Amino acid sequence: MTFPIDDVRAAFPSLAITDGGMRRIYLDNPAGTQVPQTVADATARCLIESNANLGGFFVTSERAETTIDRARERMRVFLNAQSAREVVVGPSMTALTFRMARALARTWNAGDEIVVTRMDHDGNIAPWLTVAQERGLKVRWVDFDLETWRIEPSALDDALNGRTRLVAITYASNLTGSVNDIAALVKRIHEAGALAYVDAVQFAPHGCIDVQRLDCDFLACSSYKFFGPHLGIVYGRESLLEALQPDKVRPSTNDLPWRFELGTPQIELFAALDSAVGYFEWLGGQLGARDDARARIERAFEAASAYERELSERLIEGLRRQGQIRILGITDARAFSSRVPTVSFLHSARSPEEIATDLGRRGVFVWSGNNYALELVRTLGIPVETGVVRIGAAHYNTPAEIDAALEYLAAANKTAHSSAL
Ligand SMILES: Cc1ncc(COP(=O)(O)O)c(C=O)c1O
Repeated sequence: MTFPIDDVRAAFPSLAITDGGMRRIYLDNPAGTQVPQTVADATARCLIESNANLGGFFVTSERAETTIDRARERMRVFLNAQSAREVVVGPSMTALTFRMARALARTWNAGDEIVVTRMDHDGNIAPWLTVAQERGLKVRWVDFDLETWRIEPSALDDALNGRTRLVAITYASNLTGSVNDIAALVKRIHEAGALAYVDAVQFAPHGCIDVQRLDCDFLACSSYKFFGPHLGIVYGRESLLEALQPDKVRPSTNDLPWRFELGTPQIELFAALDSAVGYFEWLGGQLGARDDARARIERAFEAASAYERELSERLIEGLRRQGQIRILGITDARAFSSRVPTVSFLHSARSPEEIATDLGRRGVFVWSGNNYALELVRTLGIPVETGVVRIGAAHYNTPAEIDAALEYLAAANKTAHSSAL
């Protein structure tokens, strides 16, 4: 079945917006995606029809509670968690990870060890470094493989020992786009008796997450990266969450997962989150899945990732043909099942900022900089101040958009070259 790209694009009103007649080409997706009309509508409807705090004996408050319960249950299905009690929602992945790190670190002692990687976004490094300093923990670092661009399970061997309490590791890199074999890595981590905290922020828009299959202990993602609102979500194994005691105000419930959610929840964003997951269910339905919600979500990702692979191939081939460009990540199409369509590169004569600015003026939105993947950029010997150019497709992008981006890039580089002569 061909991917229903026209239906998909019609679901996202922002894709049709023009600026002074110039179309927009959104290739800034790793930094945040556009939302379907249904997500925007759900937010507005919640604010208008059920805008009240929780716990009241009247209709708006009761509806607000239903909104939260529905969204959490839908997220449970999205992650394939066993219970909605395992789904913690908060303002961002970073805020939640600091919170989880602090709660976990209370259960550790000086001399205990934690492991972080040089492939991760700082959102899954800094929280752990912070608690390590506070609690006197030893930090061990794991490198990614410069040939495969992934963290190979054997790379953990030297870092793990009987004192390791937790390994913080990314599912997919927000810079190179490579995807780690999380199930295999978690197996090693568990064999050493440690916990696995997985950053799935960059994987979530591109692949179906199954926390039970991965067997991870924690998994974090952010819904604004998968066509939803600005929220972070952390899955935590129920028995582990039950044993943790985060900071909280005294009158609020100690029930799960509420114990981990501070203050009044962002109720209208829960409504939007519910709709964002609903979008994947809709897409699975468009692709012929007639089964339950989970099967529809799986079908949606299966088709979207196959479609995205074609975009990756087109983009990478096009960049390679241009010359003077060094792609930082997997370029062999046979290994594309180990990457998401996030492609970073350097030009031998032009800075990332110059390139992103040129493309931005033509309505092509790409990112330049270190993208908070500080250790990865340093490992590659790239200055953190300038970083890379990052082009990140989502399944609503088209081959024609990739071609346009490549064409503008080639033209801008050529103009810069001739004016430098
Ligand atoms: C891989 C990865 N982890 C974590 C984050 C931080 O997410 P948030 O903005 O929800 O804190 C990002 C944001 O770009 C990311 O790409």
